[in-house]
Amino acid sequence: MSGQESILKISSVEVKYHEVILVLKGVSIEVPKGDIVALLGANGAGKSTTLKAVSGLLKHEDGEVTDGSIEFMGEHIHKMSAEKIAKKGIVQVIEGRRVFEHLTVEQNLKVGAHLRGGGKSVKAGLEMVYHYFPRLREKRNEIAGFVSGGEQQMTVVGRALMTNPKLILLDEPSMGLAPLLIHEIFNIITRLNREENISILLVEQNVKLALNVAPHAYVLENGRIVMDDTSEKLRENPDIKDFYLGLTDVGGRKSFRDVKHYKRRKRWLT
Ligand SMILES: Nc1ncnc2c1ncn2[C@@H]1O[C@H](COP(=O)(O)OP(=O)(O)O)[C@@H](O)[C@H]1O
Ligand SMILES: [Mg+2]
Repeated sequence: MSGQESILKISSVEVKYHEVILVLKGVSIEVPKGDIVALLGANGAGKSTTLKAVSGLLKHEDGEVTDGSIEFMGEHIHKMSAEKIAKKGIVQVIEGRRVFEHLTVEQNLKVGAHLRGGGKSVKAGLEMVYHYFPRLREKRNEIAGFVSGGEQQMTVVGRALMTNPKLILLDEPSMGLAPLLIHEIFNIITRLNREENISILLVEQNVKLALNVAPHAYVLENGRIVMDDTSEKLRENPDIKDFYLGLTDVGGRKSFRDVKHYKRRKRWLT
């Protein structure tokens, strides 16, 4: 990725929870400006931790970046508060689409608006969100706890948009959603990237989907990046192929490591 200016540069980052639990063991990831980069990996690999290290949310969970550095547009941010980081234009959409259930869809969106800088009004923000998510305009006065899972996911992405971000950290947006909705949401994410020039670091367990929207991807395993390449190359990689075939196996969420171990075993047996 050399030659391209990066908006986010994570360099050899180590993260500990509660001062003792070492979860990230030297993670380096670059997101080129205006690009989408995918971060793949099995459950527990440290994907969400990586995003929280960038957004500063780690501190709320007694986690800390204990080594390495994180640069956003050339500035070190790993020691800043979550609020300061947010004001710089980074927003994290946490996994599990957490809406404020008792508020309406529109009230949920307005929650994101207090961080909105650059003189743009709340109204303009809402118009932008409704432009990309026409469904949310229809549902704007409904209680967020009662709209569908897909609409809740749209609401949290919309809320992130209201902050007027330069970089969105998106944690497993497809989780638990029906294929059609996933398709719809990913179309919108791609458009936000292209039309609004928002850079995206996308965490996904749905590898096939992630490799379709992101030109470049990293594979995280047990707190370490074990692979990074263009999505085109990764799609052809036999380990990756097995990995996402394993994931699509109903009920059989294999880890990347399991697949590799399995392959090693198989090779040894034959
Ligand atoms: N607040 C926390 N305190 C202690 N350990 C944590 C905390 N959050 C996550 N972990 C641990 O860190 C590891 C990585 O978690 P996470 O980043 O959520 O992985 P992923 O998002 O890839 O599933 C897991 O072993 C998890 O148990
Ligand atoms: Mg996670």
